[in-house]
Amino acid sequence: MKKELIKIIKEAGEILKEGYYTKKDITFKAKKDLVTQYDVAVENFLKKKFSKKFKDFNLIAEESDNANVEFNNSIIIDPIDGTTNFVNGVPHTAISVGVYKNKKPYLAVVYNPILDELYTAKIGKGAYLNGKKLKVSNENDFQKSLLATGFPYTSNTNEDDLNDVLKKIKLILPLCQDLRRLGAASLDLCYIAKGTFEGYYEMNLKAWDVSAGILILTEAGGVVSNINGDEYTLFEDKYLVASNGKIHKKFIKNLNK
Ligand code: IPD
Ligand code: CA
Ligand code: CA
Ligand code: CA
Repeated sequence: MKKELIKIIKEAGEILKEGYYTKKDITFKAKKDLVTQYDVAVENFLKKKFSKKFKDFNLIAEESDNANVEFNNSIIIDPIDGTTNFVNGVPHTAISVGVYKNKKPYLAVVYNPILDELYTAKIGKGAYLNGKKLKVSNENDFQKSLLATGFPYTSNTNEDDLNDVLKKIKLILPLCQDLRRLGAASLDLCYIAKGTFEGYYEMNLKAWDVSAGILILTEAGGVVSNINGDEYTLFEDKYLVASNGKIHKKFIKNLNK
């Protein structure tokens, strides 16, 4: 399945790439939440191909109506993760696809066609970037750790969320090396997998933002949890906290101070 999945996602990457260099039609789902015709085109392409090739799986995708779609055995698709980057010409954007069997991650692909970076993972078989095995960093000093975060679209409209974002930045920023906001959750997780970042946290993520990145990170030796340090549950937990594992306890402690 992995080879076929990659082949289809690489083809979809051509649609994303074409759109990246072209003028786009932008629609606002909410004040900050953009969508373009390319998000829809990539999603439709993937759904069409997947529904033919992988008949045993339900398809859950960002720009579709997923009501009544069962998650148990599913392919969870973010057609363009980092749409704001995509629209503004920041080459940090990717197609993210996670395959789940019995609610557990099985296969994962995150593909940035602009930089030609293909991250893949299969449960128990490791994680790879363009075929090269990935491993998280060995850094165990929180003060020397480069972290990433993201700002949920709700921080625009929900004062509690905005306050929580600001509170956590105030707690974390003095304690770590620095804090990045690169704008694509799937890639934030891949960047920990390849040892660029030590950690990442964000609230209100959707399943498609992280369905693939979680497996890529854990297969590279990293850890993903909720804000209490317990198992992160897709579709349920408010916060995702991810790291190289070595700073995880400290990370959880510092986020909850
Ligand atoms: C967003 C990106 C961003 C994160 C947001 C996501 P989208 O996804 O992953 O980094 O901060 O929470 O919604 O809308 O560009 O697919
Ligand atoms: Ca979006
Ligand atoms: Ca996303
Ligand atoms: Ca998206």
